[in-house]
Amino acid sequence: MKRQMRLGMSMRGLGYHPAAWRHPKVPADGSLSFAHYVRNAQAAERGLFDMIFFADGIGIREKDEPRGSLARSGYEIVEMEPMTLLPALGALTRHIGLVTTASTTYNEPYHVARKFATLDLISGGRAGWNIVTSWSEAEARNFNREEHLDYDTRYERAAEFVEVVTGLWDSWEPDAFPYDKAGGLFYDESRMHVLNHVGKHFQVRGPLNVASMPQGRPILVQAGASEPGREIAAATADVVYAAQDSIPNAKAYYDDVKSRMAKYGRSPDDLKIMPGLRTVVGRTRAEAQAKFDELQSLLDPLVGLARVYNALGDLSGHDVDGPVPEPVKPPQVRSIVDQMMQRVRRDKLTIRQLYTQMTAGGFCLIGTAADIADGMEEWFDAGACDGFNILPTHLPEACEDFVEHVTPELQRRGVFRTAYEGATLRENLGLKPHVNRYVAARKRSQAAD
Ligand SMILES: Cc1cc2nc3c(=O)[nH]c(=O)nc-3n(C[C@H](O)[C@H](O)[C@H](O)COP(=O)(O)O)c2cc1C
Repeated sequence: MKRQMRLGMSMRGLGYHPAAWRHPKVPADGSLSFAHYVRNAQAAERGLFDMIFFADGIGIREKDEPRGSLARSGYEIVEMEPMTLLPALGALTRHIGLVTTASTTYNEPYHVARKFATLDLISGGRAGWNIVTSWSEAEARNFNREEHLDYDTRYERAAEFVEVVTGLWDSWEPDAFPYDKAGGLFYDESRMHVLNHVGKHFQVRGPLNVASMPQGRPILVQAGASEPGREIAAATADVVYAAQDSIPNAKAYYDDVKSRMAKYGRSPDDLKIMPGLRTVVGRTRAEAQAKFDELQSLLDPLVGLARVYNALGDLSGHDVDGPVPEPVKPPQVRSIVDQMMQRVRRDKLTIRQLYTQMTAGGFCLIGTAADIADGMEEWFDAGACDGFNILPTHLPEACEDFVEHVTPELQRRGVFRTAYEGATLRENLGLKPHVNRYVAARKRSQAAD
């Protein structure tokens, strides 16, 4: 059997194109409508996706720059809180994994451990936690701070946070509950473990007051590409949501993260690396391109200008069909702006052409189902990934198009499942069962005797 791709459907809000909300087939109020999320989740399950995936922010993170742009952007403005939403979606699906983001900066580990453990119980073993450190000042201001924690502190806290959560998840061994009515014994004291964590950022006694998760513990997803991010991924993650946009970059990242795993006693197969991929599917190439062009044409100029604000400042006083002015203040990330300005000069881009191109950037495949499957296979066969996290441009259409056209094409090629293999997300991802740390330690000491 050929190596199989893993697929996630990132189904946050109305989709990943910034003009999605204006598309005629998108319900503009969908990100506040339970029925909208149900429709997308059930479509992804029909397409046999490993998981639905929710990125998340705890506040409106984009700034109103230029002034008035935010009110015209329907992107990540209002949406349902995913930890509340996912159990409900779990009740209306049977197989698909339920993964959401929870910040290590604006949560307490005990809360996170308890909620995801409960989600695993409700869903019969389909829970996954996307570990993020958060990045915006807007979030800081929603949580009693003026400023975001500095980078190193955030990552230090994240590492300890994950240690505490995974420790709490092992509080009870699988056979901790004899539920012996006749003998009167509810739990076996020798199978319950108090964590007693005392660290720099957290003091957590434990044990967790949830147990018996069908997956042993929820799946750990990591998204963050820096040095400390890679190390956390190699040490603990089951899945990485990656963000590279070319095969050489993705392969370098893939090889780097996987090569760090051996020192943690893990094999490369214990971690699935899934880059984000936007797809636009048509019955013909022309139809796919027309679909994409329609979305691009819906981009409001102010929303477009917001995308170049960081690099070029406020261009709202300029004619968007005129030339791009030279940056006036030193850019924050000079190399990116220099590269962009080289392209602007070479291709004589107008402001509108520039922001439209930037919206189309990243890893994006536009074409027939065969074109898209070709592109995906090329990455997969090059050893640049273990699968993809699909970022639908607009919902529900882009999700349903993928499921209707691309899923069968991948199946025909033998690189994607034709039925769910397992009962849990862990099994479907092809990951080893989780072994409780106290069970493992006892086995080791018995073997040594
Ligand atoms: C692909 C990807 C997805 C991310 N998703 C989220 C998210 O949903 N919510 C969030 O607050 N941060 C998210 N982050 C931000 C990370 O948690 C982290 O704060 C940021 O990437 C900076 O860390 P890094 O330098 O290690 O990448 C994401 C990052 C990446 C690369």
